Amino acid sequence: MSNKTAAAEPEKTHTEQQEKPQGAPRKKRILSGIQSTGVPHIGNYLGAMRHWVAEQDMYDNIFCVVDLHAITVPQHQNPKELHANTRNMVAMLLAIGLDPEKAPVFVQSHISAHAELAWMLGCVSSLGWLNRMHQFKSKAGEDRENATAGLYTYPVLMAADILLYDTNLVPVGDDQRQHIELTRDIVLRFNEHFGKTFVLPEALIREHGARIMSLTDPERKMSKSEPDGAISMLDTPTQIKKKYARAVTDSQTSIVFDLERKGLYNLLSIYQSFTDKSAAEIEEHFAGKGYKELKSELTDLTVAVFEPFQRKYNEYIGDKATLEHLIAAAADKVRPRADATLKRAQKAMGLG
Ligand code: TYM
Repeated sequence: MSNKTAAAEPEKTHTEQQEKPQGAPRKKRILSGIQSTGVPHIGNYLGAMRHWVAEQDMYDNIFCVVDLHAITVPQHQNPKELHANTRNMVAMLLAIGLDPEKAPVFVQSHISAHAELAWMLGCVSSLGWLNRMHQFKSKAGEDRENATAGLYTYPVLMAADILLYDTNLVPVGDDQRQHIELTRDIVLRFNEHFGKTFVLPEALIREHGARIMSLTDPERKMSKSEPDGAISMLDTPTQIKKKYARAVTDSQTSIVFDLERKGLYNLLSIYQSFTDKSAAEIEEHFAGKGYKELKSELTDLTVAVFEPFQRKYNEYIGDKATLEHLIAAAADKVRPRADATLKRAQKAMGLG
């Protein structure tokens, strides 16, 4: 099911070797993050979040809600909204089934080492590397002069998130591939120049669901900034039904995986991610049926998955004390590791 981007074995740092229990192979560490920029959508869920939950016993897990990344664009610099969005995102990650014992969900700004390491990594990253980042180009748009410096160095902060925890694998959607490649470049340059300090991480990008497209424009990636084309994880059954009903398709009738028929292909990809069925099985299932049946089944599948999440989400949101306690406990759990890695990197660079 998984499709890794790189085959290189992650290096082991001194800390990692010390921590490995005698005789027991250490589980690989995964770290991933999500921005607190609003309610996650079906693309976030199918491309990343559902795998985090499904595989939490396989790995040593760490997840973060990246509020420092959220403020890289001015529309998310509303303090009250950001604070609430951060809590809401943690609540959603708990609601979908991340177990705080196995998979702490912390808030990025609670661990100061992220910003500190990002500065250091920025000093070994070339402008040429950052100039190539697709995400900056698409988020900055035409008005590049007014984009923030934070948006430009966004990928360096993401590298810090990953490297602080000696991460082996980074489970993400396809849009983050280039950022993980940049992280690897940073590791290779840093380790070569200052001695082996960081683990070389790999992206973990799935074959199915890694790039869910907008329902209104299947040429574009589904995104929180375009709510009409995205099914939010808090949408009601009526909204979900309406959004699928309006999803762009074409005038042909057969229900088959055809890359040329982008709208249909996207709907079938969503169907496939929810059901884990093969393309052949799905095509056989829909033989002789039309868009109406496909869209109706998609509605039922989505509602069935999201409704229980919404119930649990509301429970967490209604119990602020528990939520704050879990957030604080997660930060306490991960902070020693982040601080140790930061110290190691500072020592390697001769800081202090
Ligand atoms: P973010 O918040 O944009 O998205 C969270 C996760 O959802 C995936 N994703 C998608 N997958 C499939 N189809 C889509 N349309 C779609 N849209 C989003 C993303 O690939 C991601 O896995 N930079 C990251 C957050 C981050 C991070 C990190 C991730 C910060 N630090 C360290 C991993 C490790 C981001 O913007 O994700």
